[in-house]
Amino acid sequence: MDKQQLIDTAQALVAKSKGILAADESGGTIKRRFDSINVESTEDNRRDYREMLFRTAGASEYISGVILFDETIRQNAADGTPMVKVLEDQGIIPGIKVDKGTQALPSSPDEVVTEGLDGLRDRLKEYYELGARFAKWRAVISIGHGIPSHYCVATNAHALARYAALSQEAGLVPIVEPEVLRDGGHSIQDCFKASEATLHEVYRQLIEQKVFLEGTLLKPSMIISGSAASDRANPEEIAEKTIDCFKRSVPAAVTGVVFLSGGESDDSVTSNLDAINQRVAEVGAPWELSFSFGRSLQGDPLKAWAGKSENLELATNAFYNRAKLTSAARQGKYVPDGGN
Ligand code: 13P
Repeated sequence: MDKQQLIDTAQALVAKSKGILAADESGGTIKRRFDSINVESTEDNRRDYREMLFRTAGASEYISGVILFDETIRQNAADGTPMVKVLEDQGIIPGIKVDKGTQALPSSPDEVVTEGLDGLRDRLKEYYELGARFAKWRAVISIGHGIPSHYCVATNAHALARYAALSQEAGLVPIVEPEVLRDGGHSIQDCFKASEATLHEVYRQLIEQKVFLEGTLLKPSMIISGSAASDRANPEEIAEKTIDCFKRSVPAAVTGVVFLSGGESDDSVTSNLDAINQRVAEVGAPWELSFSFGRSLQGDPLKAWAGKSENLELATNAFYNRAKLTSAARQGKYVPDGGN
């Protein structure tokens, strides 16, 4: 394992003004996104849309890396240039989603386990050869009556650690993503408790499986009230609880925390990231606190693009603007632009 290479990649991904674009939607998810703008999810349309994002002039001022789906890392842009090279030429690091999605957790009907460990060692080797320098594996933890169970947390944490160890062996920085879903009417305290228990178990497993923590990034949810909670916490409370929770459970050796956006509105997720970084400026934290957003970076450009090549400029402007605002929040300097 080349530890210095892993540290260098992890640090570059969380450079001061930058964060990650998650563009690794699986076939089903990208179809749902395209359905929302009445565009058919063909291979060419997926390429055109993602190529538009990747070629956005100036994107690398704010975007350090892009997480790709298996199809995209093997795909060429319309002019024949490999998509990986399009990113490299922009100074953006290509990454790859390597899990194979969730399946029902046996004997626990309301919980899921992420699959994809079979054959992973060989797939990681191939992804490195294709140009990937980091990877992502998403585990999903739900909050509800009597859940998350320790069984679910431990099973998912074990798989996350297996994946992280194999990624580092292949030269890829593992993004460790235990997403605690915001679905439900639970309180911010319930989210704190479930996240703390999850992170303890994740790091217990990572340490037991000899993962080199400096060469990893954590991709968590913020500590936030459930989407259907009657009284939702404000950004200041979210910032305070998120940092308190992570200080109790994320080792200081971890290089960076890159939040997912989780389906929150663009404005709310950006305000929350901003509040987190403002609080860090006051109380300090051992890790960089940045972003790895899918929906929150793509909502505006997807709508502006609408599947039409004549909208390319509008769409790239929308993506550039969203990335710029998110980068400001990553530095605690966000000023909402009222949707302009
Ligand atoms: P969202 O930002 O849309 O939650 O997605 C990020 C991601 O990559 C989830 O795995």
